[in-house]
Amino acid sequence: MPTTEVSHPLFARFYTWFSHVLDRHGIIGQRAALVSGLSGRVIEVGAGNGLNFIHYPPSVAGVLAVEPEPRLRATARQAARGARARIEVVGGLAERLPAADGEFDAAVVSFVLCSLPDPVAGLREIRRVLAPAGGCGSSNTSAPGPRAGPGRRTCSTRPCGRD
Ligand SMILES: C[S@@+](CC[C@H](N)C(=O)[O-])C[C@H]1O[C@@H](n2cnc3c(N)ncnc32)[C@H](O)[C@@H]1O
Repeated sequence: MPTTEVSHPLFARFYTWFSHVLDRHGIIGQRAALVSGLSGRVIEVGAGNGLNFIHYPPSVAGVLAVEPEPRLRATARQAARGARARIEVVGGLAERLPAADGEFDAAVVSFVLCSLPDPVAGLREIRRVLAPAGGCGSSNTSAPGPRAGPGRRTCSTRPCGRD
């Protein structure tokens, strides 16, 4: 049976602390912007310790939060209890999501694509589980480059292109 776990105990402990530091320095605003206005069924890929959860509006019918690291997943389950939306936290990988074709109206992927061994495969899989009119919200730290500038962050929510 293929594994759905990614065990990174040191990263999990570090990120649980560091993600709160980042939120205090403004990332919390990106989290709120990323999920505001969402509705219907949402899949969050690589949910980490669940810091997006409190921002989901009540218009969201339910969130399937997929997180492969067991310690982060346990913290995410605690965070889910304080959310306004109904959130189920499960194990799984972006490259092999535990979901049917077209099951979700929106996908949320924040600071995850740079963690994936094959981001293109992850994006293809996300597109598979989205309904034809579904949207994909992504927040990322881009690689330094002439257009991006060092460590610029991007945040967008838009229809997931089918082509
Ligand atoms: C930098 S953290 C971001 C966590 C969270 N999305 C946030 O906004 O704080 C990257 C996350 O991606 C997860 N991850 C790593 N490999 C993954 C994979 N193949 N599929 C899904 N998630 C993965 C990690 O366990 C971690 O939770």
